[in-house]
Amino acid sequence: MYICICNGLKQEDCREALACGVSCASDIYAHHGCAPKCGRCMEEMEMMYEDHAMRTLSLTGRETAPHEIMLS
Ligand code: FES
Repeated sequence: MYICICNGLKQEDCREALACGVSCASDIYAHHGCAPKCGRCMEEMEMMYEDHAMRTLSLTGRETAPHEIMLS
């Protein structure tokens, strides 16, 4: 299923980017070398990112989402 028609990003493309640890929804586009165009997919992309972040958080038990962790 396509999530972003403008960039030809399918659901599995988005999941692959999430699995690689992108730090925000817009990084899903950047991971695939593109950027949002019309913006119709951005809400769905944000929901996928939030869902992934919440699942990662519940699996790891960390108090901060992966994108909030600062490297020292
Ligand atoms: S559908 Fe994703 S930018 Fe248009």
